[in-house]
Amino acid sequence: MSSSTVITNIATLVTNDPSLGDGSPLGLVRDAAVVIDGDRIVWTGESSKAPATDNRVDAGGRAVLPGFVDSHSHLVFAGDRTQEFNARMSGRPYTAGGIRTTVAATRAASDAELEANLTRHLAEALRQGTTTFETKSGYGLTVEDEARALRLAAQHTEEVTYLGAHVVSPDYADDPAAYVALVTGEMLDACAPHARWIDVFCEKGAFDGDQARAILTAGKAKGLHPRVHANQLSYGPGVQLAVELDAASADHCTHLTDADVDALAHSRTVATLLPGAEFSTRAEWPDARRLLDAGVTVALSTDCNPGSSYTSSVPFCVALAVRDMRMTPDEAVWSATAGGAAALRRTDIGRLSPGARADLLLLDAPSHVHLAYRPGVPLVDAVWRAGVRVI
Ligand code: NIG
Ligand code: FE
Repeated sequence: MSSSTVITNIATLVTNDPSLGDGSPLGLVRDAAVVIDGDRIVWTGESSKAPATDNRVDAGGRAVLPGFVDSHSHLVFAGDRTQEFNARMSGRPYTAGGIRTTVAATRAASDAELEANLTRHLAEALRQGTTTFETKSGYGLTVEDEARALRLAAQHTEEVTYLGAHVVSPDYADDPAAYVALVTGEMLDACAPHARWIDVFCEKGAFDGDQARAILTAGKAKGLHPRVHANQLSYGPGVQLAVELDAASADHCTHLTDADVDALAHSRTVATLLPGAEFSTRAEWPDARRLLDAGVTVALSTDCNPGSSYTSSVPFCVALAVRDMRMTPDEAVWSATAGGAAALRRTDIGRLSPGARADLLLLDAPSHVHLAYRPGVPLVDAVWRAGVRVI
């Protein structure tokens, strides 16, 4: 039999359920309580009305919010690109070419090394409040190495993405069409059983619109759902293609035309913004305000990877989004929780209302606004995942 726990004395509770509390998108309840039974939230409301339970936790007048949903990361890799980062910070631009450095290191690593690296980064992310994460292949680029990456990832999350189309494998540098045939043929067959999603880096130096369409369409035919690395380094067809194929998410969205924004606004494709990438590549920020004002659903994620964004910290991304992408603290917190859930087409996470999975964070702060107000400060004090206290 499962036991129930009430968390009381919550100064600010973020439910992400507009039918609760103040009626805002965050559904803020002041002086609140939450009841967990087994792995679910069963009750949310004002502390004074909380039902009796087996156990009681006093939040001490601090804030509780849903666990972060990091809907975009690249955590199956080996090696490190400190030198490339150093060169960028001395003025060198970021290009897709650096991916090949990580491909070489990842291919050379043993399963145990990749697993240890993955586990280390996951522990780091959990400590910072990430309770659900998506992660991708894309640093193997052979049938065996891509399938291996997905197999390892699937041991830790259901949100696994096949990204054989990260860049053209160096082994096919002279014949990109043959690489696309591999990605849509033998490699897809080997990878599809381990993945839920298919992704493609649609960009100059990676895959063009026609190649990306062929890759995503082949994945769909195998039961994978599309998501797209779109419009990161330049204007291009990625966002329109994502909308055309009903992708769950178009990720990066740094260089958008008005038509791109309009297409997103009239679709169910989420725009996932990844400010760690702009921070670590010293690039122009995506304009979250423009997207939000047009009615686009925005998610915020880390893009954690050794090249363009080596941070596992969602709180850091929230702070960047508020400071540099014209989001309010409320919007950024929504995007890092409910927005991430929407980008993964999940309704059981990213909210704290009855029926949701009991993934929640207790902050060492009176409100969620402190995540942006106190950048770089380790504010996540306790984490529950599926009803179990894990931090
Ligand atoms: O999302 N844009 C493509 N892929 C990654 C970068 C990967 C790398 O540089 O290793 C990204 O930023
Ligand atoms: Fe990425």
